[in-house]
Amino acid sequence: MTEISDGVLYCGRADKERRLFDQIMPIPQGTTYNSYIVKGEKKNALIDTMYAKFVDAYMDDIVASGIRIDAVVSNHAEPDHSGAIPSLLEKFPEARVYCTKKCAENLRNFLGISLDRVEEVSDGQTLDLGGRTLEFIHAPWVHWPDTMFTHLREDNFLFTCDFFGAHWTKGIIADNSTELAEAAKGYYAEIMMPFRNFCVKYLEKVERLSPKLVLPSHGPIYKDPSFICNLYSDWTSPSVARKVIIAYVSMYGSSETMAKELAELLEARNIRAVLADIIETDECSIAKALVDSAGIVFSTPMVLASPHPKSVYVAELANILRPKLKFYSVMGSFGWGGNLSAAIDACFTLTKPKKIEGLTVKGLLLGEDRKKLGELADRIAEQFSE
Ligand code: FEO
Repeated sequence: MTEISDGVLYCGRADKERRLFDQIMPIPQGTTYNSYIVKGEKKNALIDTMYAKFVDAYMDDIVASGIRIDAVVSNHAEPDHSGAIPSLLEKFPEARVYCTKKCAENLRNFLGISLDRVEEVSDGQTLDLGGRTLEFIHAPWVHWPDTMFTHLREDNFLFTCDFFGAHWTKGIIADNSTELAEAAKGYYAEIMMPFRNFCVKYLEKVERLSPKLVLPSHGPIYKDPSFICNLYSDWTSPSVARKVIIAYVSMYGSSETMAKELAELLEARNIRAVLADIIETDECSIAKALVDSAGIVFSTPMVLASPHPKSVYVAELANILRPKLKFYSVMGSFGWGGNLSAAIDACFTLTKPKKIEGLTVKGLLLGEDRKKLGELADRIAEQFSE
């Protein structure tokens, strides 16, 4: 365990071997499951717990510390933070779980925890630990409906659970590096971006509290919370960059040529073109590029009368992550027939960017079609003057 300040201990664990989160996002460093002990004069509280994989070692650490746990605060029931609650309740038979009503339902459903051991807390409710007070702040939809923050009032420390998280294992305390900012951005893009409007609301709340420390449940603790707050302020702002992602997949080179030529045409129009070879680019890179891009162009060959299924996967990713995309277009090469955009169009049900007329080319990009690619670049450029 690591002492963060007098009577506040870190008892989380790094999972450096883990390579995928939610079976979608690559996490090259792995991640951490953060858990904190807050010691009071009368009671000791544990804030968030542990992923099942590490429960035995986690329980050994707690038992070895000799600290009696009286309160288990569950800010959010997802099993990466709640997996140790059954073991804790067994080890400390007097302990109570403090969480929102929805979290209590989830704890029962995911972990079989008896509601007899649970205190459902209202927004603003407090728990007196003796000389220290925990205030529970409901924060639904960052990122589950059950989520809350816990504020340690006397110290002005804010435990934000997944909000402000990062898949970062290079230290318990934030080093405010560009590398950390990128890791936090990847985390934001997958976990929080679909709830951007809620992020704005809770960001304002955090800024009003002006905590001395922000202690999330993944990644480092922020001793300078303005670092992560400023990043969130930027990512959640309504504005988009003069930037377009060109996500391409190519079987024999035509769709790749179209993607690269379109990139040059857009750059010539002062639009940043982010070329993403779908086969080589991981989901996290695409998700991060979506955070502030104005548009996305899919360049794909026709495969059995439809766009290449890898391009449809990227379209679905762009749909569910709900970025600020204003427009999209589909282009590519075909041999005999089919519909190059229908399967991609069908993806955009949650995110609803405007469709810009694309371009289909029979075989290679030659002659008149090259001129049409320039016209597509013009149509895209027009989107920035509207
Ligand atoms: Fe890290 Fe939503 O759990």
